[in-house]
Amino acid sequence: RIPLLIDTDPGVDDALALLMAFNDTRHEVVGLTIAAGNVGLRHTVANALKLCEVCNVDVPVFAGCSGPLLHPAPDAGYVHGQDGFGDVGYEPAKRQAEAEHAAQAILRLSHEHAGRLMLVALGPLTNIALALKLDPTLPERVARFVVMGGAVTAHGNITPAAEFNIYFDPEAAHIVFTAFAQIELADWEATLAHGLLHQKVVGWLQADSPRARFYERISKKTREWSEDRRGDHWHSADGLAMAYALEPEGALEQVARPLAVELAGHHGRGATVVDWQRHSGRPDHVMILQRYDQARFERLIEAALAAG
Ligand code: BDR
Ligand code: CA
Repeated sequence: RIPLLIDTDPGVDDALALLMAFNDTRHEVVGLTIAAGNVGLRHTVANALKLCEVCNVDVPVFAGCSGPLLHPAPDAGYVHGQDGFGDVGYEPAKRQAEAEHAAQAILRLSHEHAGRLMLVALGPLTNIALALKLDPTLPERVARFVVMGGAVTAHGNITPAAEFNIYFDPEAAHIVFTAFAQIELADWEATLAHGLLHQKVVGWLQADSPRARFYERISKKTREWSEDRRGDHWHSADGLAMAYALEPEGALEQVARPLAVELAGHHGRGATVVDWQRHSGRPDHVMILQRYDQARFERLIEAALAAG
């Protein structure tokens, strides 16, 4: 099985992506490294541990950085709930996080699974940037690197130009996007193009499984928030990125281009600037997902919720 390491800030859509990963038979989740982002690190770590418990999955959880590398940033508690899991007041998991820091765990696991490891980033890129600063040879050992982040035509979800994961820690994103020679990107615009009908989601959540029951509870608030704001469709950014990671054969349209992260500026901070016209002459190092097989995406979600 392909070793899969997930850096994540759970988060309701992160949780769906994790359910999809836990249910995949071709990949083995070897660790969850936890970032701050959607909410503070204390909650994102607790949420990851709780989800593992609900799923009866014994994957090690490593706490990472408690905030961005340089500039403090606002979280997304208004979308995911103040605790990141819909404020349902769940009983905390019995298990604790490992003692090892997420950045060190990323490096160690990259050695243990050198040349085979798939790294999937579903949150701000702080932990991966720190790992790169500790050891710039990390990319040599990573077979595939899939990132949820960015807004490739500047239809941002947190500012007019920027998407949340990149905006939360643009310096980290800059470090990561300049260090890796190949990145597969599922951005916010791809997310918007792959909405999930609320009615269908509600149907999948009726499955008779602990996973569906837990997910129904923790996602309720954010589904309601989304229905008020965006209408018929719910959007799972991290779910789509995970579908792309687990079943890349479902990608129907992709395009490779150079991409840079804007650090300065007022309107542009955190924007992902794609060199569509190839002005820079830099290599096309980012493969941008544009269209994914919607039926396959939905099957993956439905199966992940019904599992266990
Ligand atoms: C991304 O931001 C977070 O709120 C979600 O979990 C996702 O990773 C979407 O912009
Ligand atoms: Ca996330």
